[in-house]
Amino acid sequence: MLDKTQDAAQGFGGVYKGRRAGSLGDAATTSFFPAKPLGCYGDGGAIFTNDDQEAEYLRSIAVHGKGSFKYDNVRIGWNSRLDTMQAAILLVKFDAFTDYELEDVNKVASWYTQALEDKVKTPVVPDGYYSSWAQYTIQVGNEEERNTLQQKLKNQGIPTMVYYPKPMHGQTAYKDLKQYVECPVTERLCKMVVSLPLDPYIREDRFSVVSSI
Ligand SMILES: Cc1ncc(COP(=O)(O)O)c(C=O)c1O
Repeated sequence: MLDKTQDAAQGFGGVYKGRRAGSLGDAATTSFFPAKPLGCYGDGGAIFTNDDQEAEYLRSIAVHGKGSFKYDNVRIGWNSRLDTMQAAILLVKFDAFTDYELEDVNKVASWYTQALEDKVKTPVVPDGYYSSWAQYTIQVGNEEERNTLQQKLKNQGIPTMVYYPKPMHGQTAYKDLKQYVECPVTERLCKMVVSLPLDPYIREDRFSVVSSI
């Protein structure tokens, strides 16, 4: 029984009090979508667990409910196989990720923070945490300020992105739910946050543009 599960889609590579994201709880999922810390070139993902019995069950439902004999399906499953091409790409990228990309993306994030911490609200990594920086997201005062900033950066060739403009509880799919959940902080933040381009290959000389905002 997997009671405590963790979504490590944006946290893969991160550490909390000495333990890797993905190793907390009974099981964890991650995503290898290209925008994630370790991205493949299409769709992909993984589940981590130390429970051998659950792992066998998960492998089965990921391949049409297969049993020990491939052509006998012992339960109803679906097709969640990781494509071989994506797996081959991930094997190579995983080495780069652990050898230097994680360290380099942390360096880039610290350059951003140095350049911006006096101007906007920058992300904070609390003591005991190591981030894999799925995003570098800053907060400005309001939606208008955000639009102005995005336009200014766009004019200088720097793309930005708003993750996510519509909160989870505001999704149309939930509109008929009887109990409406109010999340005023989330709603406010959706109008104030903007993410800057972040990858381990950004060079320090890009930061003169960012500092000038
Ligand atoms: C926290 C989190 N969980 C799950 C997902 C879904 O990942 P996938 O698109 O690979 O299913 C995402 C994607 O953005 C995510 O950010």
